[in-house]
Amino acid sequence: MPVENLVNNVGCRVSPTNPAGSPPPGWPSQGCVVFANLTASYAWKGLEPALLDISVSIPGGSSCGFVGRSGSGKSTTVLALAGMIPIISGRCEIDGVDVRSVSLPSLRGAIAVVPQVRNIAVATMLCYSPQLSLA
Ligand SMILES: Nc1ncnc2c1ncn2[C@@H]1O[C@H](COP(=O)(O)OP(=O)(O)OP(=O)(O)O)[C@@H](O)[C@H]1O
Ligand SMILES: [Mg+2]
Repeated sequence: MPVENLVNNVGCRVSPTNPAGSPPPGWPSQGCVVFANLTASYAWKGLEPALLDISVSIPGGSSCGFVGRSGSGKSTTVLALAGMIPIISGRCEIDGVDVRSVSLPSLRGAIAVVPQVRNIAVATMLCYSPQLSLA
């Protein structure tokens, strides 16, 4: 699903303020993702950070799973990478490019996500389970 389709589902009070800049030609090429001392919140002010000082480096072409209790910030990490919530401090990089230096359409056009949205699961269950119905 294109990341742009998720924007209305996030419920964030403010959007990041990325510039209109284009990414470097050919970016991203490797898919290396770095979270460096990332602190991010669902609002610039008035909310505790949902992510506090996160540092992770994920090599391009690898698979990485985040494990944690509900509300620990797994989904929020992806939202920060996609420019959907404000980064208070630290940074997210894709192939060495700070995501805040790229316009939001360019950034989100470079990322694909499988969202944690239940209507996709419902459609799948209705399709494969005769016991389930919409009633
Ligand atoms: N739209 C929102 N506005 C404000 N705070 C939010 C919003 N969405 C999530 N949060 C908060 O951000 C924190 C991290 O939530 P997040 O959804 O990233 O957790 P998660 O690890 O993905 O949980 P789950 O396993 O239930 O999917 C939680 O404290 C949550 O309450
Ligand atoms: Mg989640």
